[in-house]
Amino acid sequence: MNKIRIGVLVSGGGSNLQAIIDACEAGRIPGKVVFVGSDNSDAYGLERAKRHKIPAFVVNYRKIARCYDQEKEGTIPDDFNLHEILEKQRLFPQSGDPTKLARFLGIRASAERALIDKMNTHPFDLLVLAGFMRTLSPYFIDRINMSRLGHRIMNIHPALLPAFPGTDGYGDTFRYGCKVGGCTVHFVDYGEDSGPIIGQKAFEIDPGDTLETIKEKGLHLEWELYEDSVRLFAEGRLKIIRKVFDLKGGRKIERTIVEIES
Ligand code: GAR
Repeated sequence: MNKIRIGVLVSGGGSNLQAIIDACEAGRIPGKVVFVGSDNSDAYGLERAKRHKIPAFVVNYRKIARCYDQEKEGTIPDDFNLHEILEKQRLFPQSGDPTKLARFLGIRASAERALIDKMNTHPFDLLVLAGFMRTLSPYFIDRINMSRLGHRIMNIHPALLPAFPGTDGYGDTFRYGCKVGGCTVHFVDYGEDSGPIIGQKAFEIDPGDTLETIKEKGLHLEWELYEDSVRLFAEGRLKIIRKVFDLKGGRKIERTIVEIES
């Protein structure tokens, strides 16, 4: 089987990155990590890349924001279209301060352009987000998921989606008093942690559990789940389909879901 080329983005410790590197090196994933990118020069994930001789790079979002404020439009990519992004993300300028929203999306596209430029020097088949704590806008997503290639950005989230999207999945699970927690791997779409689900793993939350023990239980399952999900992608077994379901009262609901081929 041909090996797939995997690009990984991290913001922090990179234990999921390590799980994927180890699975590739041990032959459990028919693939190879071809780059590690980060928005944080202190991310320990970069050190892990170095140890495995994987090319690594950093895109400094804060510096890009400063340049934007000094040069204004100068830093915005030529192919950025604010109205297209607003429409795709269903953001409406009238619901907030339009200048602030334009600034936020302009800076984000500038940073994403820098990411794409760095990533493009290392051709890849799959982009894996392993604790990358920036949301990706349609500007970025459309330039990675070009029509021939389809969905090829995966994310791991520390909760059983669609419960608790956002930045603190285990914290939200704990504070809600859930009796079960878990993690989810999904393809990335324009929404926040809303893309089609590839796999999930769950664990029981016992009365004595703390946020720390919940994180620990969850992370161990994340490493297994990410390995399994990337392997399924590498084996060409993930099929994305549109399904229409009939609801009561003659209503219908349409969903994009992932089917796993045997
Ligand atoms: C993981 O728990 C992952 O699910 C979470 O960040 C942690 C990264 O750990 N991701 C998110 O919250 C994304 N919204 P790691 O750096 O050790 O892989």
